[in-house]
Amino acid sequence: MLKKILTGAAIAALAVGLGACSAERTTSGGGDASGGGTECNVGIAMPTRSLERWINDGEQLQKKLQDAGCTVDLQYADNKTDQQISQIQNQISGGAKILVIAAIDGSTLGPVLQEAKAQNATVIAYDRLINGSENVDYYATFDNYKVGTLQGQYIETQLGLKDGKGPFNLEPFAGSPDDNNAKFFFAGAWDVLKPYVDKGQLVVPSGKSPANDDAWASIGIQGWASDKAQAEMDNRLSSFYGDGKKVNVVLSPNDSLAIGIEASLKSAGYIPGADYPIITGQDADKANVKAILDGAQAMTVWKDTRALGDRVFTMIQEIKDGKTVEVNDEKTYDNGKKVVPSYLLTPEVVTKDDVQSKLIDSGFLKASDVGL
Ligand code: BGC
Repeated sequence: MLKKILTGAAIAALAVGLGACSAERTTSGGGDASGGGTECNVGIAMPTRSLERWINDGEQLQKKLQDAGCTVDLQYADNKTDQQISQIQNQISGGAKILVIAAIDGSTLGPVLQEAKAQNATVIAYDRLINGSENVDYYATFDNYKVGTLQGQYIETQLGLKDGKGPFNLEPFAGSPDDNNAKFFFAGAWDVLKPYVDKGQLVVPSGKSPANDDAWASIGIQGWASDKAQAEMDNRLSSFYGDGKKVNVVLSPNDSLAIGIEASLKSAGYIPGADYPIITGQDADKANVKAILDGAQAMTVWKDTRALGDRVFTMIQEIKDGKTVEVNDEKTYDNGKKVVPSYLLTPEVVTKDDVQSKLIDSGFLKASDVGL
Protein backbone atom coordinates (compact mmCIF):
# COMPACT_ATOMS: atom_id res chain seq x y z
CA MET A 1 0.00 0.00 0.00
CA LEU A 2 2.75 2.41 1.03
CA LYS A 3 4.66 1.54 -2.10
CA LYS A 4 1.57 2.26 -4.16
CA ILE A 5 1.11 5.67 -2.52
CA LEU A 6 4.74 6.54 -3.05
CA THR A 7 4.60 5.51 -6.68
CA GLY A 8 1.49 7.60 -7.16
CA ALA A 9 3.12 10.58 -5.49
CA ALA A 10 6.27 10.19 -7.57
CA ILE A 11 4.29 10.10 -10.81
CA ALA A 12 2.26 13.09 -9.65
CA ALA A 13 5.46 15.02 -8.92
CA LEU A 14 6.82 14.12 -12.34
CA ALA A 15 3.61 15.17 -14.03
CA VAL A 16 3.56 18.51 -12.21
CA GLY A 17 7.25 19.05 -13.00
CA LEU A 18 6.71 18.47 -16.68
CA GLY A 19 3.60 20.62 -16.58
CA ALA A 20 5.77 23.59 -15.77
CA CYS A 21 7.50 23.37 -19.14
CA SER A 22 4.46 22.65 -21.29
CA ALA A 23 2.05 25.47 -21.92
CA GLU A 24 -0.89 23.21 -22.69
CA ARG A 25 -0.49 20.60 -20.00
CA THR A 26 -3.43 20.56 -17.66
CA THR A 27 -3.59 18.37 -14.64
CA SER A 28 -7.03 18.43 -13.19
CA GLY A 29 -8.09 15.96 -10.61
CA GLY A 30 -5.14 13.77 -11.44
CA GLY A 31 -1.94 12.98 -9.65
CA ASP A 32 -3.13 12.96 -6.06
CA ALA A 33 -1.58 10.61 -3.54
CA SER A 34 -4.68 8.40 -3.55
CA GLY A 35 -3.74 7.58 -7.16
CA GLY A 36 -7.16 8.70 -8.51
CA GLY A 37 -5.94 10.36 -11.67
CA THR A 38 -2.72 8.55 -12.31
CA GLU A 39 -4.36 5.60 -14.00
CA CYS A 40 -6.23 7.85 -16.40
CA ASN A 41 -3.22 9.82 -17.62
CA VAL A 42 -3.97 10.71 -21.22
CA GLY A 43 -1.86 12.37 -23.90
CA ILE A 44 -3.83 13.82 -26.81
CA ALA A 45 -1.81 14.70 -29.93
CA MET A 46 -3.68 16.71 -32.54
CA PRO A 47 -2.27 17.77 -35.92
CA THR A 48 -2.94 21.50 -36.15
CA ARG A 49 -4.88 24.45 -34.85
CA SER A 50 -5.27 25.79 -38.37
CA LEU A 51 -8.43 23.77 -38.93
CA GLU A 52 -11.50 24.32 -36.81
CA ARG A 53 -12.36 20.66 -36.46
CA TRP A 54 -9.12 19.71 -34.68
CA ILE A 55 -9.53 22.53 -32.17
CA ASN A 56 -13.02 21.25 -31.35
CA ASP A 57 -11.91 17.62 -31.32
CA GLY A 58 -9.07 18.24 -28.89
CA GLU A 59 -10.77 20.66 -26.56
CA GLN A 60 -13.98 18.66 -26.23
CA LEU A 61 -12.19 15.43 -25.41
CA GLN A 62 -9.85 17.21 -23.01
CA LYS A 63 -12.80 18.71 -21.13
CA LYS A 64 -14.70 15.42 -20.85
CA LEU A 65 -11.64 13.63 -19.55
CA GLN A 66 -10.80 16.37 -17.07
CA ASP A 67 -14.38 16.37 -15.80
CA ALA A 68 -13.98 12.64 -15.23
CA GLY A 69 -10.87 13.30 -13.15
CA CYS A 70 -8.22 12.33 -15.70
CA THR A 71 -4.85 13.97 -16.20
CA VAL A 72 -4.74 15.32 -19.74
CA ASP A 73 -2.02 16.77 -21.90
CA LEU A 74 -3.35 18.22 -25.16
CA GLN A 75 -0.88 19.22 -27.87
CA TYR A 76 -1.15 20.64 -31.40
CA ALA A 77 1.74 20.18 -33.80
CA ASP A 78 1.31 22.86 -36.46
CA ASN A 79 1.13 20.10 -39.11
CA LYS A 80 4.82 19.28 -38.52
CA THR A 81 5.63 15.61 -38.08
CA ASP A 82 8.81 16.12 -36.01
CA GLN A 83 6.96 18.42 -33.65
CA GLN A 84 4.22 15.83 -33.20
CA ILE A 85 6.76 13.09 -32.48
CA SER A 86 8.49 15.13 -29.79
CA GLN A 87 5.15 16.07 -28.24
CA ILE A 88 4.25 12.38 -28.00
CA GLN A 89 7.68 11.64 -26.51
CA ASN A 90 7.05 14.28 -23.85
CA GLN A 91 3.68 12.75 -23.09
CA ILE A 92 5.27 9.33 -22.68
CA SER A 93 7.94 10.65 -20.34
CA GLY A 94 5.18 12.53 -18.51
CA GLY A 95 3.66 9.17 -17.64
CA ALA A 96 0.86 8.94 -20.20
CA LYS A 97 -0.90 5.60 -19.98
CA ILE A 98 -3.24 6.24 -22.87
CA LEU A 99 -2.31 8.08 -26.05
CA VAL A 100 -4.89 9.50 -28.43
CA ILE A 101 -3.18 10.44 -31.67
CA ALA A 102 -4.49 12.13 -34.82
CA ALA A 103 -1.38 11.57 -36.92
CA ILE A 104 0.02 14.14 -39.32
CA ASP A 105 1.96 11.56 -41.28
CA GLY A 106 0.50 8.16 -40.48
CA SER A 107 3.65 6.32 -41.51
CA THR A 108 6.24 7.99 -39.29
CA LEU A 109 5.13 7.16 -35.77
CA GLY A 110 6.45 3.56 -35.47
CA PRO A 111 9.52 4.37 -33.33
CA VAL A 112 7.68 6.66 -30.89
CA LEU A 113 4.92 4.08 -30.47
CA GLN A 114 7.61 1.56 -29.59
CA GLU A 115 8.53 3.86 -26.70
CA ALA A 116 4.86 4.04 -25.73
CA LYS A 117 4.60 0.26 -25.63
CA ALA A 118 7.74 0.05 -23.50
CA GLN A 119 5.78 1.75 -20.73
CA ASN A 120 2.60 -0.18 -21.45
CA ALA A 121 0.63 2.71 -22.82
CA THR A 122 -2.48 1.99 -24.87
CA VAL A 123 -2.58 3.75 -28.22
CA ILE A 124 -5.78 4.95 -29.89
CA ALA A 125 -5.47 6.25 -33.45
CA TYR A 126 -7.88 9.16 -33.63
CA ASP A 127 -9.67 9.85 -36.92
CA ARG A 128 -6.56 8.92 -38.98
CA LEU A 129 -4.98 5.48 -38.99
CA ILE A 130 -1.32 5.06 -37.95
CA ASN A 131 0.44 2.74 -40.39
CA GLY A 132 3.32 0.29 -40.16
CA SER A 133 3.19 -0.32 -36.40
CA GLU A 134 2.05 -3.25 -34.26
CA ASN A 135 1.55 -0.82 -31.42
CA VAL A 136 -1.74 0.70 -32.44
CA ASP A 137 -4.39 -0.78 -30.19
CA TYR A 138 -7.60 0.82 -31.43
CA TYR A 139 -8.83 3.15 -34.11
CA ALA A 140 -11.82 5.46 -33.76
CA THR A 141 -13.01 7.30 -36.84
CA PHE A 142 -15.89 7.94 -39.20
CA ASP A 143 -16.52 5.59 -42.07
CA ASN A 144 -14.04 7.30 -44.37
CA TYR A 145 -15.00 5.37 -47.51
CA LYS A 146 -18.61 6.38 -46.89
CA VAL A 147 -17.59 10.06 -46.73
CA GLY A 148 -16.39 9.73 -50.33
CA THR A 149 -19.41 7.69 -51.36
CA LEU A 150 -21.71 10.44 -50.07
CA GLN A 151 -19.81 13.06 -52.09
CA GLY A 152 -19.90 10.91 -55.23
CA GLN A 153 -23.58 10.06 -54.87
CA TYR A 154 -24.47 13.68 -54.27
CA ILE A 155 -22.83 14.61 -57.58
CA GLU A 156 -24.47 11.63 -59.31
CA THR A 157 -27.93 12.68 -58.14
CA GLN A 158 -27.59 16.41 -58.71
CA LEU A 159 -26.34 15.97 -62.25
CA GLY A 160 -28.81 13.21 -63.13
CA LEU A 161 -25.97 10.91 -64.16
CA LYS A 162 -28.04 7.78 -63.58
CA ASP A 163 -30.49 9.12 -66.16
CA GLY A 164 -27.71 9.41 -68.69
CA LYS A 165 -27.29 13.21 -68.51
CA GLY A 166 -24.05 14.90 -69.51
CA PRO A 167 -21.39 15.58 -70.53
CA PHE A 168 -20.32 17.72 -67.58
CA ASN A 169 -16.88 19.16 -66.89
CA LEU A 170 -15.46 17.74 -63.66
CA GLU A 171 -12.32 18.68 -61.76
CA PRO A 172 -11.42 16.13 -59.08
CA PHE A 173 -9.17 16.81 -56.08
CA ALA A 174 -7.83 14.51 -53.35
CA GLY A 175 -6.50 15.03 -49.84
CA SER A 176 -3.01 15.00 -48.39
CA PRO A 177 -0.87 12.08 -49.65
CA ASP A 178 0.46 11.41 -46.13
CA ASP A 179 -3.02 11.06 -44.61
CA ASN A 180 -4.36 7.50 -44.69
CA ASN A 181 -7.93 8.83 -44.80
CA ALA A 182 -7.40 10.60 -48.09
CA LYS A 183 -7.29 7.42 -50.15
CA PHE A 184 -10.52 6.17 -48.56
CA PHE A 185 -12.29 9.45 -49.30
CA PHE A 186 -11.12 9.35 -52.89
CA ALA A 187 -11.94 5.67 -53.43
CA GLY A 188 -15.46 6.16 -52.05
CA ALA A 189 -16.15 9.01 -54.46
CA TRP A 190 -14.29 7.61 -57.46
CA ASP A 191 -16.06 4.25 -57.28
CA VAL A 192 -19.27 6.19 -57.92
CA LEU A 193 -17.91 8.71 -60.45
CA LYS A 194 -15.30 6.84 -62.50
CA PRO A 195 -17.89 4.78 -64.45
CA TYR A 196 -19.40 8.08 -65.68
CA VAL A 197 -15.95 9.32 -66.70
CA ASP A 198 -15.50 6.11 -68.65
CA LYS A 199 -18.88 6.60 -70.35
CA GLY A 200 -18.09 10.22 -71.22
CA GLN A 201 -20.87 11.72 -69.06
CA LEU A 202 -18.16 13.30 -66.94
CA VAL A 203 -15.22 14.88 -68.75
CA VAL A 204 -12.07 16.09 -67.01
CA PRO A 205 -10.64 18.90 -69.19
CA SER A 206 -7.44 19.18 -67.10
CA GLY A 207 -6.73 15.49 -67.63
CA LYS A 208 -6.27 15.15 -63.86
CA SER A 209 -8.42 12.08 -63.75
CA PRO A 210 -6.79 9.20 -61.84
CA ALA A 211 -6.87 5.98 -63.86
CA ASN A 212 -7.98 4.06 -60.77
CA ASP A 213 -8.44 4.45 -57.00
CA ASP A 214 -4.78 3.70 -56.31
CA ALA A 215 -3.61 6.62 -58.45
CA TRP A 216 -5.31 9.16 -56.16
CA ALA A 217 -2.13 10.71 -54.74
CA SER A 218 -1.33 12.22 -58.16
CA ILE A 219 -4.06 14.78 -57.47
CA GLY A 220 -3.47 15.00 -53.70
CA ILE A 221 -3.04 18.39 -52.02
CA GLN A 222 -0.21 18.25 -49.48
CA GLY A 223 -1.21 19.19 -45.93
CA TRP A 224 -4.84 19.74 -47.00
CA ALA A 225 -3.77 23.36 -47.60
CA SER A 226 -6.39 25.81 -48.90
CA ASP A 227 -3.78 27.96 -50.65
CA LYS A 228 -2.35 24.96 -52.50
CA ALA A 229 -5.81 23.90 -53.63
CA GLN A 230 -6.43 27.46 -54.80
CA ALA A 231 -3.18 27.55 -56.78
CA GLU A 232 -3.97 24.18 -58.36
CA MET A 233 -7.45 25.32 -59.36
CA ASP A 234 -6.01 28.59 -60.74
CA ASN A 235 -3.67 26.53 -62.91
CA ARG A 236 -6.39 24.24 -64.17
CA LEU A 237 -8.69 27.16 -64.98
CA SER A 238 -6.07 29.18 -66.82
CA SER A 239 -4.60 26.21 -68.72
CA PHE A 240 -7.70 24.26 -69.68
CA TYR A 241 -10.67 26.59 -69.55
CA GLY A 242 -9.38 29.46 -71.69
CA ASP A 243 -11.92 29.08 -74.48
CA GLY A 244 -15.02 30.00 -72.49
CA LYS A 245 -15.38 26.44 -71.25
CA LYS A 246 -16.96 26.21 -67.79
CA VAL A 247 -16.41 23.91 -64.85
CA ASN A 248 -19.66 22.17 -63.86
CA VAL A 249 -18.54 20.20 -60.85
CA VAL A 250 -15.58 19.96 -58.48
CA LEU A 251 -14.99 16.92 -56.31
CA SER A 252 -13.38 18.44 -53.22
CA PRO A 253 -12.68 15.92 -50.45
CA ASN A 254 -12.97 18.42 -47.59
CA ASP A 255 -13.85 21.95 -46.62
CA SER A 256 -10.32 23.38 -46.42
CA LEU A 257 -9.71 22.45 -50.07
CA ALA A 258 -13.18 23.69 -51.02
CA ILE A 259 -12.37 27.14 -49.58
CA GLY A 260 -9.33 27.45 -51.85
CA ILE A 261 -11.22 26.15 -54.89
CA GLU A 262 -14.07 28.59 -54.25
CA ALA A 263 -11.63 31.50 -53.98
CA SER A 264 -10.08 30.49 -57.29
CA LEU A 265 -13.45 30.23 -59.02
CA LYS A 266 -14.42 33.62 -57.63
CA SER A 267 -11.35 35.30 -59.02
CA ALA A 268 -12.00 33.65 -62.37
CA GLY A 269 -15.43 35.33 -62.40
CA TYR A 270 -17.71 32.48 -61.29
CA ILE A 271 -20.66 33.86 -59.31
CA PRO A 272 -23.08 31.70 -57.26
CA GLY A 273 -26.24 31.20 -59.28
CA ALA A 274 -27.62 28.92 -61.96
CA ASP A 275 -24.33 28.20 -63.74
CA TYR A 276 -22.16 27.93 -60.68
CA PRO A 277 -20.42 24.56 -60.28
CA ILE A 278 -21.38 21.93 -57.72
CA ILE A 279 -18.64 21.81 -55.08
CA THR A 280 -18.46 19.14 -52.39
CA GLY A 281 -16.82 19.30 -48.96
CA GLN A 282 -16.43 17.67 -45.59
CA ASP A 283 -16.35 18.84 -41.94
CA ALA A 284 -19.05 21.54 -41.77
CA ASP A 285 -16.51 24.25 -40.97
CA LYS A 286 -18.15 27.60 -40.26
CA ALA A 287 -16.78 29.35 -43.35
CA ASN A 288 -18.02 26.52 -45.54
CA VAL A 289 -21.45 26.41 -43.98
CA LYS A 290 -21.67 30.13 -44.73
CA ALA A 291 -20.60 29.34 -48.30
CA ILE A 292 -23.36 26.72 -48.49
CA LEU A 293 -25.92 29.27 -47.34
CA ASP A 294 -24.56 31.76 -49.91
CA GLY A 295 -24.67 29.22 -52.75
CA ALA A 296 -20.87 29.06 -53.16
CA GLN A 297 -20.66 25.42 -52.02
CA ALA A 298 -23.29 22.72 -52.56
CA MET A 299 -22.78 20.37 -49.64
CA THR A 300 -20.51 19.22 -46.89
CA VAL A 301 -20.19 15.81 -45.29
CA TRP A 302 -20.77 16.38 -41.62
CA LYS A 303 -18.89 14.30 -39.11
CA ASP A 304 -20.13 15.18 -35.65
CA THR A 305 -16.78 15.40 -33.88
CA ARG A 306 -18.58 15.40 -30.54
CA ALA A 307 -19.70 11.83 -31.24
CA LEU A 308 -16.12 10.84 -32.07
CA GLY A 309 -14.92 12.42 -28.83
CA ASP A 310 -17.66 10.57 -26.92
CA ARG A 311 -16.63 7.28 -28.48
CA VAL A 312 -12.98 7.79 -27.59
CA PHE A 313 -14.01 8.84 -24.09
CA THR A 314 -15.92 5.54 -23.77
CA MET A 315 -12.90 3.61 -25.06
CA ILE A 316 -10.71 5.32 -22.47
CA GLN A 317 -13.14 4.43 -19.67
CA GLU A 318 -13.14 0.82 -20.86
CA ILE A 319 -9.33 0.72 -21.00
CA LYS A 320 -9.03 2.35 -17.58
CA ASP A 321 -11.49 -0.13 -16.06
CA GLY A 322 -9.88 -3.12 -17.75
CA LYS A 323 -13.06 -3.86 -19.72
CA THR A 324 -13.31 -5.09 -23.30
CA VAL A 325 -13.15 -2.15 -25.68
CA GLU A 326 -16.16 -2.07 -27.94
CA VAL A 327 -15.39 -1.95 -31.68
CA ASN A 328 -17.61 -2.43 -34.74
CA ASP A 329 -15.12 -3.09 -37.53
CA GLU A 330 -12.32 -5.61 -37.51
CA LYS A 331 -11.60 -5.94 -41.21
CA THR A 332 -11.22 -2.59 -42.97
CA TYR A 333 -8.19 -0.91 -41.45
CA ASP A 334 -5.08 -2.95 -42.13
CA ASN A 335 -2.09 -0.78 -41.23
CA GLY A 336 0.48 -3.06 -42.85
CA LYS A 337 1.28 -4.83 -39.58
CA LYS A 338 -2.18 -5.68 -38.28
CA VAL A 339 -5.84 -5.05 -38.81
CA VAL A 340 -6.57 -2.42 -36.21
CA PRO A 341 -9.82 -2.97 -34.27
CA SER A 342 -11.91 0.05 -35.16
CA TYR A 343 -15.05 1.88 -34.22
CA LEU A 344 -16.57 3.59 -37.26
CA LEU A 345 -19.15 6.34 -36.93
CA THR A 346 -21.57 7.37 -39.65
CA PRO A 347 -21.07 10.61 -41.59
CA GLU A 348 -23.99 12.49 -43.17
CA VAL A 349 -24.65 14.99 -45.93
CA VAL A 350 -25.58 18.57 -45.09
CA THR A 351 -26.96 20.96 -47.72
CA LYS A 352 -28.54 24.40 -47.50
CA ASP A 353 -31.85 22.76 -46.55
CA ASP A 354 -30.61 21.08 -43.40
CA VAL A 355 -28.06 23.50 -41.96
CA GLN A 356 -30.65 24.54 -39.40
CA SER A 357 -32.04 21.12 -38.51
CA LYS A 358 -28.75 19.24 -38.42
CA LEU A 359 -26.03 21.71 -37.48
CA ILE A 360 -27.75 24.45 -35.50
CA ASP A 361 -30.52 22.54 -33.73
CA SER A 362 -28.01 19.93 -32.57
CA GLY A 363 -25.80 22.67 -31.13
CA PHE A 364 -22.84 21.77 -33.38
CA LEU A 365 -22.78 25.38 -34.62
CA LYS A 366 -24.40 28.53 -33.35
CA ALA A 367 -26.76 30.36 -35.69
CA SER A 368 -24.59 33.47 -35.23
CA ASP A 369 -21.49 31.51 -36.38
CA VAL A 370 -22.96 31.27 -39.85
CA GLY A 371 -24.81 34.54 -40.05
CA LEU A 372 -28.28 33.15 -39.34
C1 BGC B 1 -10.00 14.37 -41.61
C2 BGC B 1 -10.87 15.41 -42.21
C3 BGC B 1 -10.10 16.70 -42.37
C4 BGC B 1 -8.74 16.47 -43.00
C5 BGC B 1 -7.87 17.71 -42.96
C6 BGC B 1 -8.75 14.21 -42.41
O1 BGC B 1 -7.94 13.21 -41.91
O2 BGC B 1 -10.70 13.13 -41.52
O3 BGC B 1 -12.00 15.61 -41.40
O4 BGC B 1 -10.81 17.59 -43.17
O5 BGC B 1 -8.05 15.44 -42.37
O6 BGC B 1 -7.54 18.06 -41.66
